Amino acid sequence: RPLPIVAIDGPAASGKGTLARRVADALGFALLDTGALYRAVALSMIRSGADLDDPAAAAAAARALTADDIARLTADPALRQDDTAAGASRVSAVTGVRLALLEFQRAFAACPPGGAAGAVLDGRDIGTVICPDAPVKLFVTASVEVRARRRFDELRGRGETPSFPDVLADMQARDARDSNRAIAPLVPARDAVVLDNSDKDVRQSFEEAMQVIRARL
Ligand code: C5P
Repeated sequence: RPLPIVAIDGPAASGKGTLARRVADALGFALLDTGALYRAVALSMIRSGADLDDPAAAAAAARALTADDIARLTADPALRQDDTAAGASRVSAVTGVRLALLEFQRAFAACPPGGAAGAVLDGRDIGTVICPDAPVKLFVTASVEVRARRRFDELRGRGETPSFPDVLADMQARDARDSNRAIAPLVPARDAVVLDNSDKDVRQSFEEAMQVIRARL
């Protein structure tokens, strides 16, 4: 019997984080936001003044992270800043970084903390690389314009004054980096169900996802 794992992948601002949280709550499963791990690597490098474009430094920073470091850095408000996200996108293209974070993610999926009956992992390569045998794989997406609009509204909500063309250009640049990198690019697994929520609200997306999940778990 396969471990009850729900793999949720998709691009930035696709709503996969919100969906993963709701699905994990509904099923009583443990949740791992794997993007936070890449952000933690970037943040630790920013804090130590390391060069984010040096692959050896990035791999070393990822290998040096302990579970305690991960807990501390992922709780840091700076984790959600745009420069941390951009740094995460850069370090995530480094093989040594991905390898260093692989075991942490697999261990979480195999043995979810808190004695949970299953795990939900959200990221970019959960269905393709981290948990290729997951019984449920969702690929959550929306048009780049819709995702840029969501990010724009989120930034304004935080009191920032972004320009929409800049936000859209950043989103396109991050999509291109994540989709075109040589290692673990952002692509749906062959057996993933693609859910496009461009025209759906959070509740509709959740219900659609739960139908797929119930049919497969
Ligand atoms: O999802 P989030 O915006 O927190 O991810 C930050 C960056 O981490 C992404 O742009 C992507 O480059 C990288 N990432 C990844 N693989 C994952 C999760 C995130 O490469 N499983």
